[in-house]
Amino acid sequence: MCALLPPPLFSFFFSLLWALPIAAGRTGDGGACLSACTCAGDLLDCSALRWKRVRGEIPAWVAHLDLSRNKLQLIDAIVFAKLRHLNELKLNNNELDSVPDLGPCSSNITVLNLANNRISKVLLEQLQPFQSLEILDLSNNNVAELRATSFPALPLKFLFMNSNRISSLEPGCFSNLSATLQVLKLNRNRLSSIPAKIFQLPNLQHLELNRNRVKRVDGLAFHGLHSLKSLKMQRNGIGKLMDGAFWGLSNMETLQLEHNNLTEVSKGWLYGLLMLQQLQLSHNAIARIRPDAWEFCQKLSELDLASNHLTRLEESSFSGLSVLDRLDISDNRVSFIADGAFRGLSHLQTLDLRNNDISWTIEDMNGPFSALDHLRQLFLQGNQIRSITKKSFSGLDTLMHLDLSNNAIMSIQVNAFSQMKQLEELHLNTSSLLCDCQLKWLPPWVAERRFAPFINASCAHPQVLKGRSVFAVDLDDFVCDDFPKPQITVQPETQSALRGSNVTFVCSAASSSDSPMTFAWKKDNEGLSDAEVHNEAHLRARGADVTEYTTVLHLRQVDFASEGKYQCVISNHFGSSYSNKAKLTVNSKKRRTMHSVKYSHNHFR
Ligand SMILES: *[C@@H]1O[C@H](CO)[C@@H](O)[C@H](O)[C@H]1NC(C)=O
Ligand SMILES: *[C@@H]1O[C@H](CO)[C@@H](O)[C@H](O)[C@H]1NC(C)=O
Ligand SMILES: *[C@@H]1O[C@H](CO)[C@@H](O)[C@H](O)[C@H]1NC(C)=O
Ligand SMILES: *[C@@H]1O[C@H](CO)[C@@H](O)[C@H](O)[C@H]1NC(C)=O
Ligand SMILES: *[C@@H]1O[C@H](CO)[C@@H](O)[C@H](O)[C@H]1NC(C)=O
Ligand SMILES: *[C@@H]1O[C@H](CO)[C@@H](O)[C@H](O)[C@H]1NC(C)=O
Repeated sequence: MCALLPPPLFSFFFSLLWALPIAAGRTGDGGACLSACTCAGDLLDCSALRWKRVRGEIPAWVAHLDLSRNKLQLIDAIVFAKLRHLNELKLNNNELDSVPDLGPCSSNITVLNLANNRISKVLLEQLQPFQSLEILDLSNNNVAELRATSFPALPLKFLFMNSNRISSLEPGCFSNLSATLQVLKLNRNRLSSIPAKIFQLPNLQHLELNRNRVKRVDGLAFHGLHSLKSLKMQRNGIGKLMDGAFWGLSNMETLQLEHNNLTEVSKGWLYGLLMLQQLQLSHNAIARIRPDAWEFCQKLSELDLASNHLTRLEESSFSGLSVLDRLDISDNRVSFIADGAFRGLSHLQTLDLRNNDISWTIEDMNGPFSALDHLRQLFLQGNQIRSITKKSFSGLDTLMHLDLSNNAIMSIQVNAFSQMKQLEELHLNTSSLLCDCQLKWLPPWVAERRFAPFINASCAHPQVLKGRSVFAVDLDDFVCDDFPKPQITVQPETQSALRGSNVTFVCSAASSSDSPMTFAWKKDNEGLSDAEVHNEAHLRARGADVTEYTTVLHLRQVDFASEGKYQCVISNHFGSSYSNKAKLTVNSKKRRTMHSVKYSHNHFR
């Protein structure tokens, strides 16, 4: 309002203000505040006044001047002529189209904020007067390129140039800043490549290149950044990281590559990242972790692989990560977890496997997590887990938090969680429980351990209990009248066969349910998709309600590649049963005399 008054009235108001008590800390010529502005300490705040030019005389005591959110297009250097103490100047959110000329006071300014203006060029002669400048913010302007002649020699420590239109970096563009620059932000620009050795900035600690258009990073791109601690390159669409892409970043601790298009993790691009502690790779298309990938990253403590395309965790997938603390593999498609996939992760405290396709790892494997001596949190919600056995979580003695919600869990063996003495939270929600005598232990145990607030569990079977919460069922009503879940009655047999001969494996299961049965065969834990299989069902006894199902796997003309451990999996609505693993050994003709050749016989009745 005052700003609109004619000059005589203006100075009248000005002298009135002069008479008001002055804020502490103000120095110099009496400490008046400019009308329309507010003062605090040595700050003069003239922001958001719709000024097209600076109105009035800025008092000489000002050290921090806020002229942001006005409509300034030009700055008259005269206005700044007396400002001996000016140290920080905010000119962000104005309409400036070049770095302004502020006269002699430029040389004492250490912080200059020019974000959200219309500046299209960074010119040496315009920046030259700012001989004390340490922080320069040019974000949200229209700068399209940085040239070798853009920056004069300045003591700049922080340079922010987010949200410009920078598509090219000329070699040498940062060389005048090399002695001092510590933080460089170039997010939301149009860079499509990183010229090799463009960043010769031995003191730089943080570099941000998020939301650019870099599709490929070549070797040595970041050479010259010995002090770098963190590099952010999210949302670029990076599809290829060439060998040695990050070579030279031997002190880097954090690398963020989320939301790109990476397809694999390999030693080649991790080469030389000796101090890396945090690696963020979520939201890529990673389907493969190469053996030895982590050879250089022995200090890694946090690895985020969420939302990728992993289907398998191999024995080598995490080998060497002996100080890893947190591993996130949520929202992938993992169904295969090799024996020993987590071996060596003895420091791991948090393992997130939610929203994958995990089933048999929990249902059939013998202690898949047993190497995780220090695990405290395990997230398994949103998988395909139907049953939990005594072996599922063996070895997890230190676990405090286990989440199994969003799995249609049907059975839980007694003592499945008993070794977890420190468990504080067990999350479950299932409406698929088979409420027979084998589940009788659950309600009293949940009550004793006080897990009830985290558990929603209701029965699907038997029919009379369907839909009832297990906590509302009388303990005497958990009875075993029938057995709807398949039970293996005939196990496949270990055998040896002559090379070139035909082999069969036979497996049977019985169930009292007429729910449709599915059969699958696995070799060395991997599903056999195109195997020759014959299945049959028949009533076990006349008048009885028990059906027996038999599946026969035919292997024609076996070869040495046929050797392995074969297992059948028979499933229905109430769960899966896994047979023993039968070993097949194949002998060549020469060895024939040394081995008896045994064919198994069908067990059809
Ligand atoms: C810079 O600051 C010093 C110390 O406050 C002061 O003596 C000097 O006059 C200032 N220079 C300019 C050009 O304002
Ligand atoms: C560095 O700054 C000096 C003046 O401060 C200038 O002459 C030179 O062109 C700038 N650029 C390079 C790459 O040295
Ligand atoms: C990622 O790669 C796929 C296939 O190569 C391509 O279709 C997609 O556009 C890429 N995404 C980005 C963000 O580059
Ligand atoms: C388990 O909880 C989740 C979210 O709380 C819900 O979406 C899901 O339907 C629940 N499942 C069952 C079987 O109750
Ligand atoms: C259990 O289910 C009820 C109703 O479906 C829901 O309100 C409650 O939040 C659930 N509790 C848990 C622990 O999932
Ligand atoms: C193996 O099976 C094939 C195909 O059914 C058959 O032709 C062949 O005679 C069998 N070989 C032996 C040794 O039984």
